Amino acid sequence: MKSPRSFFKPLAIGAPEPFRELPVRLERMIHFVPPHLEKLRAKVPDLVRQVDVVLGNLEDAIPADQKVAARRGFIKMAQEVDYGATGLWTRVNCLNSPWILDDLTEIVAEAGNKLDVIMLPKVEGPWDIHYLDQLLAQLEARHGIAKPILIHAILETAEGVKNVEAIALASPRMHGMSLGPADLAASRGMKTTRVGGGHPDYAVLADPRGDAPRTAFQQDLWHYTVAKMVDACQSAGIKAFYGPFGDFSDPAACEAQFRNAFLMGCLGAWSLHPTQIDIAKRVFSPDPAEVQFAARILDAMPDGTGAVMIDGKMQDDATWKQAKVIVDLARLVAS
Ligand code: GLV
Ligand code: MG
Repeated sequence: MKSPRSFFKPLAIGAPEPFRELPVRLERMIHFVPPHLEKLRAKVPDLVRQVDVVLGNLEDAIPADQKVAARRGFIKMAQEVDYGATGLWTRVNCLNSPWILDDLTEIVAEAGNKLDVIMLPKVEGPWDIHYLDQLLAQLEARHGIAKPILIHAILETAEGVKNVEAIALASPRMHGMSLGPADLAASRGMKTTRVGGGHPDYAVLADPRGDAPRTAFQQDLWHYTVAKMVDACQSAGIKAFYGPFGDFSDPAACEAQFRNAFLMGCLGAWSLHPTQIDIAKRVFSPDPAEVQFAARILDAMPDGTGAVMIDGKMQDDATWKQAKVIVDLARLVAS
């Protein structure tokens, strides 16, 4: 079943424009800003020139006694800064929190025309998306918001992973999904205290070979969930993202985690620290050598059919499609 992009009846009065295909835009890094901190908010005008998406975070990592300040700070930064082609998102509090209703009503009323996407944490099933979809439709109609605000779900509970396909198809507002490895680890009862990345003990030992020392190969803890999420998103016509990487002192591991996600079909990741912006930019932009090779495949098969050999490697209709993914992304990065 394809994404039901006109699933819900629009509101009778004051409905925004009908839903359209998702905008094609670069979203290599979703950069998190804690909007209750004035010093960091002041950097947003500079940030807008460096990142693809600026996100005002209202949920986890914002202390309970700063939730209102974060919401007001986000509205201020939404109103005061010109975002140009840079996306403006917010991560609101989860649906069973005491803050979500005010997050939504105040933000849509005062910054709804600037906002591209609402990131909804701890989504467990399509019912969570239906609720937000309907509430947004009502708030948009009340405040005359012309452009529908999209929804991005965080996949971070065992229940959510179980229902990932239904979540992806839950609303024409669905923009995409991010893996939330920290909450997911807790929800699953995994034995790690890390935010994303691997674990030295999650490894496979190579078979013994004579007297040679045995080697351990570390595994990607998130492989299964990322693959499941990418399939659910692609088949619904929405976008898949890796989420956070919490160890800022280990840029190599961050890059490896982002790269795994990129190779598996994700379009971007969260940047929680300025050093992660360049990592995401590098990883989620295709490698020039790969682009060159992909362009040769497209040139060698102008109508996308048949079989040719390039540098000793067979290319056919399927590799033509793979090459097109890479060349299209390179064009978007260059545009
Ligand atoms: C993100 O929200 C996570 O829980 O990893
Ligand atoms: Mg989380």
